[in-house]
Amino acid sequence: MRRAKISIVGAGNVGATTAHWCAAAELGDIVLVDIPATGDMSAGKALDLMQSSPVMGFDAHVTGTTSYDKTAGSDVVVITAGIPRKPGMSRDDLLATNAKIMASVCEQIKKTSAHAVVIVVSNPLDAMVQKAKQVTGFPPERVIGQAGILDTARYRTFLAMELGVSVEDVSALLMGGHGDTMVPIPSCTCVGGIPVTQLIDPRRLEEIVDRTRNGGAEIVSLLKTGSAFYAPAAATAQMVEAIVRDKKRLLPCAAYCDKEYGVGGYYVGVPAILGSAGVERIIELKLSDTEKSAFDKSVCAVKELVAAMSSLT
Ligand code: LAC
Repeated sequence: MRRAKISIVGAGNVGATTAHWCAAAELGDIVLVDIPATGDMSAGKALDLMQSSPVMGFDAHVTGTTSYDKTAGSDVVVITAGIPRKPGMSRDDLLATNAKIMASVCEQIKKTSAHAVVIVVSNPLDAMVQKAKQVTGFPPERVIGQAGILDTARYRTFLAMELGVSVEDVSALLMGGHGDTMVPIPSCTCVGGIPVTQLIDPRRLEEIVDRTRNGGAEIVSLLKTGSAFYAPAAATAQMVEAIVRDKKRLLPCAAYCDKEYGVGGYYVGVPAILGSAGVERIIELKLSDTEKSAFDKSVCAVKELVAAMSSLT
């Protein structure tokens, strides 16, 4: 059987760790690509990862390169390229620099992997994924942003810590943009099948949601030299798996919503079914009035960010 070809653009912490999770799960052969200014870093990380395979027992070829030619014909391309946040910076502070990087990466991908599903991880996520769609010209179902799985994973972690239960028993949903306006959906958050609202009082739940909103910033302030990578990479690998194994997973992703939720042509975090074609369906939930107004506010923030990006170019 032909193995899937997965290219990961950006061999920094998020890119290399995504390669690690994908290789360990034998999701396919991996090409790690970075800019020539980084020298042989991607080749070095790829070779190191390959040399872990006899110990960890996985069959996957991992190569590193500075040439997009080696990524040609990828099934999935993950884009992590861009500068990360430093303490005190918001994701939006990265807009101008990362929009340029995203445009140049997407020009290459369009030429070398015209049939790939593209997963964007770079920040500010909701604008970067819009840029990726514009530049590649790929159909919207093949350009997806990673944010919701990460945000939801943080939320699930904090809920499990609060209740002293296994993370395996916590299922949750957050929607909206990847930022301060993310929207918790309490009616879709359960612990062992029990609605979370029966287990945690509303004030405490709001504090946990708040910690989730600031989940990325909390890591940035601890690391001081960059942003989170284990959880973002794990979330990305889960999306890659859903696509290369055509699993039809129902996961929160930044998907292109036009008529859906009345968004009108922007990327926003919604529950979506991921399979080999990319986003195969967006699930439209009935939101309560409070959830709907929080979601609309989040969509407004995404629109402002995209407008700010357009005014730069
Ligand atoms: C975070 C960054 C990666 O949320 O967006 O940690």
